[in-house]
Amino acid sequence: MTATNNKNSVTVTDNRTGHSWDMPILQGTCGPNVIDIRKLYSESGCFTYDPGFTSTGSCDSSITYIDGDEGILRHRGYSIEDLAAKSDFMEVCYLLLNGELPNQSEKSEFKNQITYHTMLHEQMQYFYRGFRRDSHPMAVMVGVVGALSAFYHDSTDIRDPHQRLIASHRLIAKMPTIAAYAYKYSIGQPFVYPQNNLSYAANFLHMTFSVPCEEYVASPALVRAMDRIFILHADHEQNASTSTVRIAGSSGANPFACIAAGIASLWGPAHGGANEAVLRMLQQIGHKDNIPAFIERAKDKNDPFRLMGFGHRVYKNYDPRASVMRESCHEVLTELGINDPLLELAMELERVALEDPYFTEKKLFPNVDFYSGIILRAMNFPTSMFTVLFALARTVGWVAQWKEMIEDPNHKISRPRQLYLGADAREFVPMDKR
Ligand code: SDX
Repeated sequence: MTATNNKNSVTVTDNRTGHSWDMPILQGTCGPNVIDIRKLYSESGCFTYDPGFTSTGSCDSSITYIDGDEGILRHRGYSIEDLAAKSDFMEVCYLLLNGELPNQSEKSEFKNQITYHTMLHEQMQYFYRGFRRDSHPMAVMVGVVGALSAFYHDSTDIRDPHQRLIASHRLIAKMPTIAAYAYKYSIGQPFVYPQNNLSYAANFLHMTFSVPCEEYVASPALVRAMDRIFILHADHEQNASTSTVRIAGSSGANPFACIAAGIASLWGPAHGGANEAVLRMLQQIGHKDNIPAFIERAKDKNDPFRLMGFGHRVYKNYDPRASVMRESCHEVLTELGINDPLLELAMELERVALEDPYFTEKKLFPNVDFYSGIILRAMNFPTSMFTVLFALARTVGWVAQWKEMIEDPNHKISRPRQLYLGADAREFVPMDKR
């Protein structure tokens, strides 16, 4: 097959038969154009083939734009740098869900709506008791979030806009409570209820680190750092977990089940699980004298070791979130008076890697996960909670993308096809002939 680019279409020609088909080119606000191949199979009898979707647009969206070559990330047109420096997570949640930054009254009303839903149904506590104390908290998150649909029947009808809104608010509001309970359960401490007078980030830190026996007030610097970390992880276009949420939602599954599916997908070390893997990698490297050996392992095709927190399917430049995260790293460690040797090690590892042609030629740069673990460790989160925090923050992105899909009148169930390489038709073989 060959393709030629006409003014607003591409002509695809099957060189075996000489047949040609015109496929329209669609242009977005910015970023690459797309070739609309929706009629390709019905007209040509051929599928396209793109394992991993490296060149495939699965939908149109107005929420997040990424320019991987330039290292640009924008939510509804606002740069991640501006949002991290000048906004807060509640504003970013409103922006992702509604398309515009809220004015003061809209922000207050939205914050109240979220605050109203932070408590969990009291019976949900019994779910935690069914898990081993040493369960990975991501296993608990998948189970408990999926179980929300068993308790909140009044917000599972996706055809009802009001129920979609309530489910969206419940998911954003309850994720910190569910995450904090998972941590408390793992260390044998009592669950701490949400406090309506606290901000979203302060409430989460309070539920996570306070104990009934004494007063706990998170420092404003830590609250700001937590809020900024949530902003940096809020949404990221059609990544693996967001695509999982969209595909689950395309079947009409309830939003709680869809978000549980997204959490499961995020858990993988190639995706959201990388922040946990970065810290374990740094601890494994141990000292900067060992960096050259690990760099060589990362370059060795026969060695499964990869530089965790490096590389990205879209960013072929520095992940803008990694830059903000690195600045926050220095701020938080200075604020806490912590001199974490792992930060020095991470910076030296970054320096050595970015001087190595293997990484620069393959355009492998630090991504959002490279520095996040160091901040979270400084804030006393155990490594096993790192991906839980990613899931907590990404919930608003998943919900916004799910809502955008459900509200698209043209959306349909996602059902990719395949290139079949298996056995051709053959006769059944009875047992005595096998
Ligand atoms: C997230 O998609 C998103 O937007 C995700 C995310 C989000 O916010 O939702 O940004 C969050 O998941 C960030 C990524 C976190 N994962 C890691 O840090 C794990 C380490 N990174 C790699 O596993 C990898 O870079 C991926 C999975 C992130 C991207 O993989 P791709 O796009 O499929 O690229 P690839 O595996 O084809 O790699 C291209 C080449 C390969 O070498 P060649 O076969 O061409 O010779 O680069 C090499 C790879 O071997 N390579 C690495 C590497 N990453 C890619 N070599 C060493 N170390 C690495 N980290």
